[in-house]
Amino acid sequence: MAAHTPRWTSKFGFYLIAVGSAFGLGNLWRFPYIVGENGGGAFIILYVLLSITVGCALLIAELMLGKTTHSSLLKATRLISNKVKLPTHWLGRVAMALSFLVLAYYSVISGWVIHFFTQFLMSLVKIGDLSQVESQSLSVLIGNGWLQFLLASVHIVISIVVVAQGVKEGLEKWLTRLMPIFAALVVILVVRAMSLPSRGDVLRFLFYPDFTKLTLNSLSYAIGHVCFTLSIGFGTIVTFSRYLEDEVHLPTIGFRITALDTVVSLVAALLIFPIAFQSSSLPVTDPMLLFEALPKFFNQMKGGEFFGLIFFLCLWLAALNASIGLLETLVANLKDFYPHMKRPVLSWASGGLVLFLTLIPALSGTVFKNFRLHDLSILQVMDVVIINWALPFSAFLIGLSFYYSFDEQVKSKLFISNKVIASEKLYADWNFLIKYVTPSVLILALVLQVIRLLV
Ligand code: PHE
Repeated sequence: MAAHTPRWTSKFGFYLIAVGSAFGLGNLWRFPYIVGENGGGAFIILYVLLSITVGCALLIAELMLGKTTHSSLLKATRLISNKVKLPTHWLGRVAMALSFLVLAYYSVISGWVIHFFTQFLMSLVKIGDLSQVESQSLSVLIGNGWLQFLLASVHIVISIVVVAQGVKEGLEKWLTRLMPIFAALVVILVVRAMSLPSRGDVLRFLFYPDFTKLTLNSLSYAIGHVCFTLSIGFGTIVTFSRYLEDEVHLPTIGFRITALDTVVSLVAALLIFPIAFQSSSLPVTDPMLLFEALPKFFNQMKGGEFFGLIFFLCLWLAALNASIGLLETLVANLKDFYPHMKRPVLSWASGGLVLFLTLIPALSGTVFKNFRLHDLSILQVMDVVIINWALPFSAFLIGLSFYYSFDEQVKSKLFISNKVIASEKLYADWNFLIKYVTPSVLILALVLQVIRLLV
C-alpha cells in the first residue's frame, strides 16, 4: 500500500466519510420534492421499505467488495472479470462515467446553495434586504445560466483543491464541529415549522398513505433515490471501504448508515412541507421547493438573515463534503490504474472534465432551453435517466457481480458474527434480497415504465 493512502484507524473515521458522503443535497433538496411529486405518504412507505431492504443490502455488498478486494471499483471489477470470465470490468467504467455526470449535476445544485448563502450574507451585512432574498434570488438564478455555471465552478474548484492537496482531514475537522450545529439548527427549524397551522395537513400528507397517488413512475423514483442518497452504484463505498480494519462488522455499518440517512430525509420533509403547505403558491412537486420554501420561512423569522446564513452555509459544506467524496473516488480509481501519476494531476484532470460537463446542466434552462425531451429540460432528463435508471442498475450489477464471484465461505465469514444477534438469519435475508428481491424490483420498475410510455 502506498505511503499516502488513508487507513481508517478508527471506525469513526470511516463512519464520518461514509455518512458524510451519504448525507447531502439528496436528503434536504431532492427528497422533499420527489415526495411531493409522488403524492406523499404512500411514496414514503415505498421509499423507506426499499431503503432498509434493497438499499441496505446493496450497500453491504459494496462494503464487502471493497474490503475483500482492497481496491477501488475499477480494479475490483477487473479482478472479478478475470475470475469469472465475464466483462464485469465495464461496470467499473460505467460507474465512473456516472460519477462524472452526477458530480457535474450535483455541482450545479451546490452552486444554487452558494447563491442563497451569499444572498443571506448580503442581507446580514445590509447590502441587500431579506425580502429580496425571498422574492428575487431564485428568479435571478434561474434566468442566468452563466451565473449557475460560475457558482458551480467555484464549488468544483474548491473540491479539486481539497482533493489535490489531500487536506480532507482539515475539512473533516470543521465538518465534525459544524454538523452538530447544523443538526441542532434543523431541529429548531422543524419545531418552528411544525408549529405552523398547516401541521395537520402535513402529517396527513406525509404519514397517511393514499396508494392511489402512486404513479407508474413512483417505483423507479423510489429505488433511484435510495441509490443516490446512500451513494451506491458509484463505487464510492467500494473505494472507501477498502481500508477498513478486519474486525469491523460490515452489515452493522451498512444498516446504521441506511437508518441514519433515512431518518435525516424524513426530518427534511417535516421541515419543508409545513412551510410549503402554509403558502398556497409553493408547488410541492418542483425541484425549486427547498429554495422557495426556506427563504420565505427565514423572512418571517426574527433573526432570519442569521439563521438563513448558517443553514445555507452548513448545507453547502455538506454538499461540498459529498462532492469531495465523489471526486476522491474518481481520483482513487484512476490512481489504481496510473500509479505513477501524481494526485494533483489526476485531481485537476478529473475535476476539469467535471467542470466542462457542468456546462450542460448549468445552461439547460437558458442557452440549451430548446433541447427538451418529453417536455423535460436537460437537467431534468439527467436527473431521471441517471438517478432513476442508470444508478439502480449500476448498484445492482455491482452487488450481483460481488455476490456471484465470491465463495459462500468468504461472504458468510464477513456477515456472520457471534457478537451480532441473529446474524445467521440476517445473512439468509441478505442472500434473498440480493438474489431475488433486487432484480424483481428493477424488472417491475422497468415494466411499469414501459406501460407508462405505451398508455
Ligand atoms: N448521497 C449524496 C446525497 O444524498 C450524493 C452523493 C452520491 C454523494 C454519490 C457522493 C457520492 O446528497
